[in-house]
Amino acid sequence: SVPSLASPDDFLQCLRDKIPSELLYTQSSSSFAGVLVSSIRSARFFTNTTVRPLCVVRPTDASHVQAAVLCGRTQGVRLRVRSGGHDYEGLSYRSVRPEVFGVVDLADLRAVSVNQSETTAWVDSGATIGELYYTIAKDNSQLAFPAGLCPTIGVGGHFSGGAIGMMMRKYGLAVDNVLDAKLVNANGDLLDRAGMGEDLFWAIRGGGGGSFGIVLSWKVQLVQVPPTVTMFNIVRTLDQGAVDIVTRWQDVGPSLPNDLTIRVIVQGQQALFQALYLGTCSSLVATMGDQFPELAMTSADCQSMTWLQSIAFISFWNRDTPVEVLLSRTTSLSTFTKSKSDYVQSAISKGVWKNIFSWFTMNGAGLIILEPHGGFMGSVPTDATPYPHRSGVLYNVQYMVFWQGDGGTAANTWLGNLYDFMGQYVSKNPRQAYVNYRDLDIGQNVVVDDATTFDSAKVWGEQYFTSNFQRLAAVKAAVDPTDYFRNEQSIPPLVQGR
Ligand code: FDA
Repeated sequence: SVPSLASPDDFLQCLRDKIPSELLYTQSSSSFAGVLVSSIRSARFFTNTTVRPLCVVRPTDASHVQAAVLCGRTQGVRLRVRSGGHDYEGLSYRSVRPEVFGVVDLADLRAVSVNQSETTAWVDSGATIGELYYTIAKDNSQLAFPAGLCPTIGVGGHFSGGAIGMMMRKYGLAVDNVLDAKLVNANGDLLDRAGMGEDLFWAIRGGGGGSFGIVLSWKVQLVQVPPTVTMFNIVRTLDQGAVDIVTRWQDVGPSLPNDLTIRVIVQGQQALFQALYLGTCSSLVATMGDQFPELAMTSADCQSMTWLQSIAFISFWNRDTPVEVLLSRTTSLSTFTKSKSDYVQSAISKGVWKNIFSWFTMNGAGLIILEPHGGFMGSVPTDATPYPHRSGVLYNVQYMVFWQGDGGTAANTWLGNLYDFMGQYVSKNPRQAYVNYRDLDIGQNVVVDDATTFDSAKVWGEQYFTSNFQRLAAVKAAVDPTDYFRNEQSIPPLVQGR
């Protein structure tokens, strides 16, 4: 087990002995800050008071990851693992409380290899989903993969939490399409699906990152898309009936044909309806006329393109954006953000929506994104993967605020108040949340006798995983009983009597 007193110097020496020196960045190295910040996505976690790691290791081979785990175990230093660095609470590279820890940054383990005849691919955790999509579709416009929207998200953290996106109503989450995986466990062993067993393979497909080991790569089933897909972005203001249309969308969005996903972004006094349809413009116009006439969509709204172009289009809003932009890993660090999430199981009334829109005139207001479920998602049993938000869920709500510099008070007050207000209209007992929209406000672990207590973790754990939480904790006890892979919201080992 991890000695209770960490030996940072011995840990660094152990790493120096086992890993090429150019892959190890300690705090005294001139490149340390640059490497640390390279994939940080929220300026909130790169300030003078942020608790930073002792070192960053950038492995180029699985054996380096195994060595880092063994050094950490023997010298009592915990590791945090980072793939794309998009964690909403920065848990892949910072600690909330003072702690000595190292970061294993997988950015250089990012190969994607597609097997065209099997229509499968192996993708390393350090790849971004933009790199994954590009590699799958650049030579075959009819192959695709269902995961999230923002191309710079890392595969490792994203798949670890499930991964929702514009094709989940047809093909499910990314993890519904994972066939195999390679993971380094808390003993430093490198295991594939057969080696890790079905319980651990279940847990890593949605149980949240950072709890069970370091997943190095994933074998995925690719999916079919037509050579051209159709998209639209339609804005409706309050004057154009946004309240009525959003109210109606709640019933329509989750019950449309599986080939059609319409998500909604509410910001200011308007709603943006953003659609991906795996079919032609004429059949989309017919479906919309039949099922959602309130939106008054016409053929003039259609944008036809390849699926790969649709990924760039949805992120950059410009259909002339070259698809190579999906390979870029750079983002700006100027913005501070905070998010929260909910799931809605019964449609919210028109009167309440009128009220919700009035929140978007207030000081500090951000935006909300509504992601429809239903379709294939509704047919998957709750316990098929750790992601429990399946049958009966109409849509996910993500609340987001943005600010610059020290100006976060109004934004965060607005966010907290709106979240409190929404409590009466969303899922209850427990109120549900999405682990990939990580939110430390809903609870943080308490450590007693050097292990996370089940009761403290249950508070947030049942919101992310409902009835799957207990099974996750049992898997954790079997594979990491001493709670080596631990953070503020890691799965606790369910040990009898604790
Ligand atoms: P990061 O590297 O920060 O890791 C996240 C967590 O997983 C950390 O706890 C980390 O330790 C752990 N982890 C990372 N790599 C691991 C590995 N190899 N093995 C084990 N644990 C690992 N989500 C979604 O479902 N659909 C969407 O469309 C979007 N869109 C979106 C846009 C933007 C701009 C952001 C910032 C985020 C999203 N997300 C999202 C949320 C996203 O899925 C979530 O933040 C992922 O955990 C990010 O994965 P990264 O690897 O980038 O994060």
